[in-house]
Amino acid sequence: MRTQVAIIGGGPSGLLLSHLLNRAGIETVVLERQSRDYVLSRIRAGVLERGTVDLLHRAGVGARMTREGHTHSGCYLTHDQQMIRMDFAAACGAAVTVYGQTEVTRDLYDAQDAIGAQHIHGVEAVALHDLDSARPHITYTLDGQSHRLDCDFIAGCDGFHGVSRKAIPANLRREYEKVYPFGWLGVLSETPPLHEELIYANHPRGFALASMRNPMLSRYYIQVPLSDKVQDWSDAAFWEEFSARMPEDVAAGLITGPSIEKSIAPLRSFVSEPMRYGALFLCGDAAHIVPPTGAKGLNLAASDVHYLSTGLLAHYNEKDSAGLDDYSQKALARVWQAMRFSWQVTTLMHHFPEHSDYDRQMQRVELMQLATNPAAQRMFAENYTGLPY
Ligand code: APR
Ligand code: PHB
Repeated sequence: MRTQVAIIGGGPSGLLLSHLLNRAGIETVVLERQSRDYVLSRIRAGVLERGTVDLLHRAGVGARMTREGHTHSGCYLTHDQQMIRMDFAAACGAAVTVYGQTEVTRDLYDAQDAIGAQHIHGVEAVALHDLDSARPHITYTLDGQSHRLDCDFIAGCDGFHGVSRKAIPANLRREYEKVYPFGWLGVLSETPPLHEELIYANHPRGFALASMRNPMLSRYYIQVPLSDKVQDWSDAAFWEEFSARMPEDVAAGLITGPSIEKSIAPLRSFVSEPMRYGALFLCGDAAHIVPPTGAKGLNLAASDVHYLSTGLLAHYNEKDSAGLDDYSQKALARVWQAMRFSWQVTTLMHHFPEHSDYDRQMQRVELMQLATNPAAQRMFAENYTGLPY
């Protein structure tokens, strides 16, 4: 089999890239290890930067997001009992859209179906070959049979645990990693959200986040030690701990209910450079991971896809390869900015076991600066709503 761009991974990065290319007349094949139902069962964050929203509209998949997503022009940070509003509209004239990543992925699958895009699910033993030659190709097995896919380019959109990144020779790859000493326990419940805007809470007992999907679906998180197991946390214990970390007057309005999903995710920052090797281009979680505190994971995947799709279009339509040559450098410049913001907000809002009273004073002063200083508010708002591409 042959295609122009072979895409490994059918998560949001791979699907969005495939859709943008297909709409411009470029052929793709998406190879995904899991079933579609499995991909659509994963619960991830739900905050879209304006750039991501614009890109989804340009890809022609924004209609349901416009109908069902919610525009948020601010969020709250708390310090113990104090609610500090980050007013994005006043600080930088921008907003974010709250719309679940699972829904973005579903919209992309539906749009790909409507144009008859080629997706192969259930592939195993995916291997990349001859990346530094003019004849790159992929081998894989499907239902026990071996297959070969020839292509011009390969997009490695296969997430942190995928094979693409590791196909770049180790001596050409540089990896940067920071692992945080805690995880987030997340709960999804069919209850009205605690508040109309997201609340990120810094509390002596640890971080907590009140988020949402829609008026009858809430998403809540609490920081937990990495040694905790989901089964250690009953729903009642979760609600009690979550309430204790929110300001008392806000927690008084909490409506609890049974959890419909409960999971623990570790927090990590990771970058692998470069994001290109010969015919291979990495996108999204395959090249970088951010802790969820800044809600940047999907948004960084979107900016990578923007740069790569623009480069591929110029290559095929105008025989101009400058965008492909610049891809790694441009994508990484934005990745590192989001890394810094995600690290800053993570460091600001969590309880670190090794923190001294001095470190906690630094958190307090930084939060007070965010409460009172328009320059600090603007910097937060610009980063949260998304730096320009
Ligand atoms: N072969 C084929 N597919 C693979 C392989 C493989 N060897 N390894 C992983 N995959 C698939 C996974 O099953 C998954 O569906 O690649 C996909 C990668 O999707 P994500 O992990 O969602 O990564 P990405 O599309 O870059 O999305 C980035 O979305 O998933 C979130 O936390 C992530 O928010 C971030 C954003
Ligand atoms: C979520 O709604 O799941 C969510 C929102 C904001 C974050 C992280 C997760 O920073």
